[in-house]
Formats: sequence, structure tokens, C-alpha cells
Amino acid sequence: MMTSHDHHTHEAHSTHQGHGANEGHQDSTTEYDQTYWDTFYDERPAIWSGQPNPQLVTETAGLTPGTALDVGSGEGADAIWLARRGWKVTAVDISQVALTRGAANAAADEESAALITWTRQDLLQWAPPESSFDLISAQFMHLPKTEREPLFTRLAAAVTPGGTLLVVGHHPSDMESGAHRPPRLDLFYTAEEIALLLDPERWDLVTESRQRTQDHDGETVTIHDAVLRARRVS
Ligand SMILES: C[S@@+](CC[C@H](N)C(=O)[O-])C[C@H]1O[C@@H](n2cnc3c(N)ncnc32)[C@H](O)[C@@H]1O
Repeated sequence: MMTSHDHHTHEAHSTHQGHGANEGHQDSTTEYDQTYWDTFYDERPAIWSGQPNPQLVTETAGLTPGTALDVGSGEGADAIWLARRGWKVTAVDISQVALTRGAANAAADEESAALITWTRQDLLQWAPPESSFDLISAQFMHLPKTEREPLFTRLAAAVTPGGTLLVVGHHPSDMESGAHRPPRLDLFYTAEEIALLLDPERWDLVTESRQRTQDHDGETVTIHDAVLRARRVS
């Protein structure tokens, strides 16, 4: 799992470069376990900017609210944005620190806070129930291929007929962008690679690489998001 502070879109506060922690209790088969992520979040009171991810906003603003799963929900900005639009959200993260922070951030608005369930799970071990969410959003889940492909396959199975799977990640070309990225090409993916996991007869697939700019230590760099939007047709 990549963890460079500026590896996703609504960072702003952290200069974190990643830890090598691999101690204590492990849910995961990887070194990026709960201890790793709790330590990551414990480093600062706010790692991310508090704003929802732009591709989530673009892709879901026109959808009718239903049930949503926010995969690796972090400090909760996406879950909160969705709940304010009427989605009943299950926010899942491996880090209890992140979940507690998310719930605290959500509490400012009681009505939408009541629509969010904060759930600590290791997504490498836990599978959401089949056909159970109208929207599943995975924003910047960067795992090795052997872990991300089974994860995204399990997530696809949990989308209801008519529902949407949205996967957004940093495009591999970002390695050349000047953005801070860990030197781990295997953690990056294109939307087309993720689309190959889905049966085109059962899904309407849209794959894109979307350009945007980001501030990195006072310099503007151009980066790309890999965006897969898949609507389950049967
Ligand atoms: C790069 S952050 C992205 C957070 C959020 N989606 C966002 O865009 O702000 C990745 C998140 O995934 C969580 N995560 C990493 N591995 C996980 C796992 N195996 N199970 C559940 N959550 C995990 C981390 O704790 C972290 O909050």
C-alpha cells in the first residue's frame, strides 16, 4: 500500500513519507496492517484536506442515493459528502484512528452523521456481502496486484444490479510526473487493467485517465487519476 503524503487528491496537511512499521497485531498478510495505518494517522491530527475526492464528486453527483460502501475511508471526507447527499454509507477502514477521526468530523452534522456506519475491517480478509451496495467507491487503494485484484473482484460482487463500482487510483504515469510517489510501480494501475476483472456482458464500463494539477511543496505538478466507473447491468 502506498502511503506518500501526496499520493492522493485531497492531501494538504502532511509531509509524511511513509513508515516501515511491521509490528504488533496483524490482520493483513502484508506489512501494511492496522499498526502501520494507525501510526500513519497518529502522526498528525489531520492527514488529508477534509475535502471529498474530485472524481467521487464528478461520478456520483448525478446518482440517486442508496447504500454506499466507502472502501478505505480514511478521515471520512468522502463518506461525509455522500451522507450529506442522502446516501446510507458504510465506511470501512483498517485504522481505528482514522475511523474515530472520521466519526468526529461527521458529528458536526447530526442528520448525515446518523447515515454513516464506521466499520473497522481488513479489506484483504473481509468481503462485503454479495449484491449489497448501490455504490462502492475505492479511492486510492494502492496494493500489489496479487492483493488489489482479488479485492476489486470481491467489491464488484458486492454491487447491486444497477449499482456502480467506482475505482480511482494514481495512474502509473505519475511516476514520471514529479509528484511524490513511492518507487513501487507495482502499486499503481490503469482503469483498463481493473476493467479486465469485470465481465463486459454484465457491466457498462467507462475507463479514463484524468489529468489534474496538484501543489507539491509550492510547485504545481500535473498528475493523472485512473478512473473506472462500472455500472452493473445484470
Ligand atoms: C491512501 S488512503 C486513502 C483514504 C481515502 N480513501 C481518501 O481518499 O482520503 C488508504 C486508506 O486505506 C486504508 N486501508 C489500507 N489497507 C487497508 C485494508 N487492508 N483494509 C481496510 N482499509 C485499509 C488506510 O487505513 C487508509 O485510510
